[in-house]
Amino acid sequence: MKQQLSSTNTQYSLKAASLPEEIKPVYTLTNAIMHESNPIQEKGLISIQGVDKIFVSERGHRVHALSNTWIEVAEKDFICIVGPSGCGKSTLLRIVAGLEQASSGQVLFQEQVQNKPHPQIGMVFQQYSLLPWRTVEENIILGLEIDRSSAHKKKETAERYLELINMKQFRHSYPFELSGGMQQRVAIARALANDPQVLLMDEPFGALDAHTRILMQRELLRIWEKNIKTVLFVTHSVDEAIYLADRILVMSARPGQVKEIIDVDMPRPRTRSNPRYGQLSEHILDMLEFDNISQSDTNNEYFSEVHA
Ligand SMILES: Nc1ncnc2c1ncn2[C@@H]1O[C@H](COP(=O)(O)OP(=O)(O)O)[C@@H](O)[C@H]1O
Ligand SMILES: [Mg+2]
Repeated sequence: MKQQLSSTNTQYSLKAASLPEEIKPVYTLTNAIMHESNPIQEKGLISIQGVDKIFVSERGHRVHALSNTWIEVAEKDFICIVGPSGCGKSTLLRIVAGLEQASSGQVLFQEQVQNKPHPQIGMVFQQYSLLPWRTVEENIILGLEIDRSSAHKKKETAERYLELINMKQFRHSYPFELSGGMQQRVAIARALANDPQVLLMDEPFGALDAHTRILMQRELLRIWEKNIKTVLFVTHSVDEAIYLADRILVMSARPGQVKEIIDVDMPRPRTRSNPRYGQLSEHILDMLEFDNISQSDTNNEYFSEVHA
């Protein structure tokens, strides 16, 4: 296995050699392998250790979704994960959320093995997943009801998050009365209202139109800055990842594994006109193109974004 990983990395390194000096990958596939043989490394809040996931269908068909994935996530990190379609990004988030079990390897959260949903880990899905029969306010406090919090705490929390997402005047509206962007704000508020330490977001803005998406990205950063959480955010948009992340984790085609982790050392708010934006984007797209060329079953979603 290591042999195979190393050869992939060698091919990639040839491309990396021509990168601008200021784009410094801090974590390459080689590091990922060294990490495996060097367990004495500072552990983060979330420690993804050699996770493999193989799905086996009822007819015995096997899909190797994730392979030997190692990631350390520090407290208050905002990490975006990009990678070809089907490379296991959602699977990885679901394993971290405790909704799916790894076939081998493990995820530690606060140094405990993470094998079931944890109240300190919240998740926001691509589809808004609000309960249609509950109002905005009732959706936001859903988790508090499950926890049997006091009426006072529910009221106070609802106020705080309605304010945070600028939706006080919609507190009694039902999801069908809201736009997609508004529904997603409620879904984010609902996840935050449980006050989780970690927020997992799986392409949360994927279904939004381009304009709403940009507004939501700003909104998310505003909420995050007021209310800092550790965020793991999956996106297929390289542009979105550069706009949001402290670090971008680029995954290889299936079976997915960490190809590189890139520090986005641009101050916020970031402007797309910053030349580093373009350089980083080109670098990441280059890596994804490499996978696209070497894998026949991936699609061209990243490239349509660039040419749009
Ligand atoms: N429950 C499942 N059963 C069988 N195969 C699955 C299941 N979930 C995901 N897969 C497969 O695992 C691979 C990775 O899926 P996924 O994590 O959804 O990828 P991504 O989010 O990167 O697009 C895909 O080939 C997908 O078809
Ligand atoms: Mg997915």
